[in-house]
Amino acid sequence: MSSSDLGPTIEAAVILPLPPQFTKQKRTPTLKQKICKITLLLVSVLTLSALVFLASVSFSNYNQCDRTCKLKFCSSADCFLSKMASKRSVKKCTCQNGAVLNRKLERVNTTAIDAALVEYCVCNSVECATVQANSAPSVFLHKGPCGHCSNPADFQIYKETALTLTKSSTKAAVASIFSKQKAINQMTKIGLSDKCSECWVGNMQNTLVHCFWTCAFGSRASCENGHLSKCLQCDEDYSGKYFRDCAGMTRRRAGITSDICRQNGEIVDK
Ligand SMILES: *[C@@H]1O[C@H](CO)[C@@H](O)[C@H](O)[C@H]1NC(C)=O
Repeated sequence: MSSSDLGPTIEAAVILPLPPQFTKQKRTPTLKQKICKITLLLVSVLTLSALVFLASVSFSNYNQCDRTCKLKFCSSADCFLSKMASKRSVKKCTCQNGAVLNRKLERVNTTAIDAALVEYCVCNSVECATVQANSAPSVFLHKGPCGHCSNPADFQIYKETALTLTKSSTKAAVASIFSKQKAINQMTKIGLSDKCSECWVGNMQNTLVHCFWTCAFGSRASCENGHLSKCLQCDEDYSGKYFRDCAGMTRRRAGITSDICRQNGEIVDK
């Protein structure tokens, strides 16, 4: 076979029109394809915003250094509502007095704290005061020193909302992700005093910093098989001391049974 024999065959192949599946045709996308594209775009945008949101909550400070320094150095409930300037690096806080602390707190056993209390908060018609156990508790409000929730009005709200307060405060905790003031407003709307609400919201933001992943992707139920859910246990361990020091009155210390399951002996007998 000579090369000239192949010539015409190749030419013929070039001239032959391409089968239709190889020709480029401009097709207008069908409605189905358009919907598909838009859905894909929306899902990507939503996923991206969710990731940005999770990252920003995880890395937000929520005034954690302020609380960490207060927990270490405050000796009165009033100190918890004043400003304590503190500087922060990624993991450390420099407190006003120069002390450098780990930004994240350690877990604390609040049952042990409450069991060791020797003081009581008692009230007369004018004010409440912290007294030693051996002085006659005339009008007993709660076990432990008085704080910003230690007054008859807040006690009344604790009692009236015993079964719903945990749920309402979880809602406020979600609001506290975006705005501290919004969360405080939600708590005052329930009827708690301004200062007491501020302690609640301080607790919420403390829990946000320490328990965000546990609470965002786990059960937030107040009771699970007779025990606290992981989220509430995390809240208890990391924020329980802050809340006690700021608010004074917890429902357990005041002998109020709530929707949170507690073990025998944890709730004070009045
Ligand atoms: C916390 O303290 C209480 C009372 O002291 C104790 O019974 C309990 O086992 C402790 N819990 C943990 C998790 O250590």
